[in-house]
Amino acid sequence: MKEQELRELQNTLSWPEKIGQLIQLSGDFFQSEALAVGPKQKLGIDQDTVNLVGSVLNLTGAEATNHIQENYLANSRHKVPLLFMADIIYGYRTIFPIPLGLGATWNPALIKQAYQVIAAESRSAGAHVTFAPMVDLVRDARWGRCLESTGEDPHLNADYAKVMVEGLQGENLEGIASCVKHFAAYGAAEAGREYNTVDMSERRLRQDYLTGYKAAIDAGCKLVMTSFNTYDGMPATGNDFLLKDILRKEWGFDGVIISDYAAIQELVAHGVAADEREATQLAIEATTDIDMKTSCYAKQLEPLIKDGMISSKLVDDAVWRVLKLKNNLGLFEDPYRGASKENEEMNLLSDKNRALSRKVAAESVVLLQNKNNVLPLTPNQDKILLVGPYGDKQDLIGLWAVHGKTTDVTTLKEVLEKKLTSESFKFTQGCDMLDDYSFLGEFGATAEQIDSIGLSESQRESALAEALKLGEVADVIIFAMGEHTMQSGEAGSRTDITLPKIQQDFMNQMIELGKKKILISISGRPLVYTKEVNQMDAILQAWFPGTEGANAIVDLLFGDTNPSGRLSMSFPHNVGQLPIYYNEFKTGRPLTSKTHKGRFISKYLDSPNQPLFPFGYGLSYSEVLYNNLKLSSSEMTEKLIATISISNQSDRDCLETVQLYIQDVTGSVVRPVKELKKYKKVSLKAKETKTVSFELAREDLYYYKRDMSFNVESGAFIVFVGPNSEEVLESQFELI
Ligand code: GLC
Repeated sequence: MKEQELRELQNTLSWPEKIGQLIQLSGDFFQSEALAVGPKQKLGIDQDTVNLVGSVLNLTGAEATNHIQENYLANSRHKVPLLFMADIIYGYRTIFPIPLGLGATWNPALIKQAYQVIAAESRSAGAHVTFAPMVDLVRDARWGRCLESTGEDPHLNADYAKVMVEGLQGENLEGIASCVKHFAAYGAAEAGREYNTVDMSERRLRQDYLTGYKAAIDAGCKLVMTSFNTYDGMPATGNDFLLKDILRKEWGFDGVIISDYAAIQELVAHGVAADEREATQLAIEATTDIDMKTSCYAKQLEPLIKDGMISSKLVDDAVWRVLKLKNNLGLFEDPYRGASKENEEMNLLSDKNRALSRKVAAESVVLLQNKNNVLPLTPNQDKILLVGPYGDKQDLIGLWAVHGKTTDVTTLKEVLEKKLTSESFKFTQGCDMLDDYSFLGEFGATAEQIDSIGLSESQRESALAEALKLGEVADVIIFAMGEHTMQSGEAGSRTDITLPKIQQDFMNQMIELGKKKILISISGRPLVYTKEVNQMDAILQAWFPGTEGANAIVDLLFGDTNPSGRLSMSFPHNVGQLPIYYNEFKTGRPLTSKTHKGRFISKYLDSPNQPLFPFGYGLSYSEVLYNNLKLSSSEMTEKLIATISISNQSDRDCLETVQLYIQDVTGSVVRPVKELKKYKKVSLKAKETKTVSFELAREDLYYYKRDMSFNVESGAFIVFVGPNSEEVLESQFELI
C-alpha cells in the first residue's frame, strides 16, 4: 500500500481501533471463546478489545495463523491484518545451537546462513516477526540468559547481531522482521540475578553494551524490544534517555518499539509509577509503541488523551509505526505471506536444514582439554562406555527453542550405536541428572510428574553398580553430563555453576576405574570445571547443541570434523570471580605492578585473577604455530597492516581462528588491557603455512574519551595476535 493510502487508512480508525494496534496478546486469546474466557478475565479485558488487537504473541503454525487471520479480517471493520510475533531465537523447527554456542563459531557468514534457514521455516509457519537477535552482552555466568547471548565481547556481538538481522530479514524483508532485544544492557543484571538492577556509567554502556543493538539497527532491524531492567534509575520501558535520546534521536530508529512481557505494568513494581495510568503515560511518552500482554494501553491510553495528560499525537505516531511495519511486510496485499501446510512440509526440518544445523553445531563445540591426545577416537578400536544423563536424552535444544521439538533429536546413544559395533560400544545412564527436581514445579510440573522424572534410591544404586561393572571392561568412558534444560535461560540465574553434585559424585566413583575419560558437557552457560580438568582427559563444551547436536558431537569425537570452536565468554575458576571478562580495565596495581608486590596488588587471596579458560580459547586436533608478527610500520596515521604466519603442524586439515587485539597504552580515561578488533577463521591444510593479514584503521581505535567524544588520542598502542586472548604475540606502534 502506498504511504498516502496508509495515512488515509489511519485517519479512518477510531481511537479504540488505533489503540488496538498497540496491544499484543498471546495466542490463547484467539482460540475458542471458551478457552479465551480465563485469559480475558485475568487481564481484565473484554472480547471487543481482543477483536481490535494488532498483534499476537507466540502463536505459530500455518493452519492456526491463517485461520485466525481469516477470522479476524472477516470480523474487522478496518481490515488491518494481525501481526504474528514469536520467540524464534535460534531455530524454528530445525534448532541450531544456543547463541552462546553460535558465538563460539567465530563464523558470522555461517551464522547468517543459519538465520536465513530460520527465517524461511518461520515464514512458512506464519510468523511475521521474531524476537531475535538477543544481543545482550554478558559477563556473568550466573545469569541464566547467557544461553541467548553471543557472549562478552562488544565487537563480536556486533558482528553476530548484523548477520542475524540480515539472515532473518533478507534484502527486502522477504524473510521475517527481526526485533533486537533487550534494549538495553539487560545482561549486566547485578550479581547475575535475573530481572535485577542494571547501573553503569554512560561510557561503559556506550563502549561495551550498546554495540550489538546499534549493529542490528544499522543492519535494518525493524523492531526493538525494551528490557526489564533499569538503566540509571529508570526502567528501560519508560527510559527517555535510552529510547528517545539514543534510539530515536541519535540512531534515527523510527521502527516499532515493543515492551518486554508486561514490562509497562512493571513500572509500578519498579516504583516509578504509582499505578497503571502513570505507567502507561511513562511508556507512551518514552515511545514504547506496543504493550505486550497487559491491559495498560487498552485501558489507560484513551482516558489519558481525554484528560489532556498526553498528546494524541503520541498514540498516532505509535500507530503509524505499527502500520508501516505491517505495510513493509506486505500484509495488506497478502496477510498470509505464503504460510501454508505445503510450505511447512517443504521447509521445516528438511535434510538440508538438518545438515546446516549439524555443521553449525560442529563449529560451536569447544574442545577445552585433550590430554595425551585421547581424542579423536578410532571407531571400533577401543571399547567405549557412554554414561550420564545426557547419553540417551533428546533434550539437547535448550530452553528457548520454544517451537522446536525434542522428539526431532537423535541421542548420543543412538548415533554411537549406529556408528559402532555392539562389541565396542555400551551405554548405561549411571546417574541421575539432578538430585532434586522440585524446582520444575514452577514450570507447571505436578508433584507426580516430578516424582516420576528422577531415579529412585534403589534405581540410583543399581545404575551406579551397572556403570561400574561395564566400566571395568571399557577402555574409554564418555561422560555425557550437564545442566538441566530448565537450569538456564530466562529466570535461570544460579549461584552454583558447577556440574550438579549428583553427577560429580558419580564421576568421582567412575574415575577410580582408571580408564580414559572424556567429558561432554551440555549447558546454557559457562560452568566451573575446576575439578573436571584434573579428572578428565578430554572436555568438550557442547552447550545445548540443537537438533543435530549429537551427530555433531560424534563427528568431533571421531575426528570426522576437527574442533574449531573458540569461547566467546570466559569460563571462571569459581563463581566468586564473576563477573569476569578478558577486556577488563587496567588498574593502578596490576599483577605486573612494578611499584607494589605481595598482597598489595589487584588479586584475591584464594583464587587466581585469570579465568580457567579465557575468551577466544579452544583446541583442535592440530597444533598450529604462530610466529613472525609484523606491523607495516611502527607508526600509524590512518591505516596499519599486521601480518602473522600460522603453520599447521599436524597431518589433519583444520580451521584456525586468528584473533587480533589492541591495547591503548595511555588514554584520556582508563582503557582495557585488551580489546578484540579483528579476527579471521582460516582453513589450513595438513602441514600448511599461511600468512594472515589484518588491516587496522584509525576508526578501529576509537573509544569514548574523557569528554565522551568518540575518537582517539595519539600515543602508544600494543597489538596482540594469537589463538585466544591470552596466548598472544605482541608488537607496538605509535598512533600519530
Ligand atoms: C520474555 C522474554 C523476552 C521474550 C518475551 C516474549 O519474558 O524476556 O525475551 O521475547 O517475554 O515471550
